[in-house]
Amino acid sequence: MLRKLVLVAVLVIGACAFVQAADMEVYRSEDCSCCGKWAEYLKKNGFKVRLHNLSPSRLDSIKSEARIPDKYASCHTAKVEGYVIEGHVPAEDIKRLLAERPKAIGLAVPGMPIGSPGMEVGNRKEPYEVLLIKEDGSTEVFARH
Ligand code: CU
Ligand code: CU
Repeated sequence: MLRKLVLVAVLVIGACAFVQAADMEVYRSEDCSCCGKWAEYLKKNGFKVRLHNLSPSRLDSIKSEARIPDKYASCHTAKVEGYVIEGHVPAEDIKRLLAERPKAIGLAVPGMPIGSPGMEVGNRKEPYEVLLIKEDGSTEVFARH
């Protein structure tokens, strides 16, 4: 029993250390406030976030360099451990991505669904999907919220 507990503790601490070590670069346009809210939310969830304020055209080129298809674009683009995170993606999904490490470009929440992290409006919630963008640009649903 005790040994089992110790093992669980080691796993939990290991997982936390791993997530805390995750450095994230967030690229946003200067005049967007929801991007800042999303970045704050990620900090609270253990990510080390560095914010970069860019002009809208520079941000567009970051998105195309990162191979995010236009139709899946959102307001901000982030990079973490070789993956691209587009839009208001929940922290739990990013953590799962970093734990599972699928072969993919990254995750996207296209547009800006009301009720996603950083897009809170009272307690309104619009259902939305988190997409896994694969190397060939195709997608599959990674999570539903
Ligand atoms: Cu936004
Ligand atoms: Cu944003």
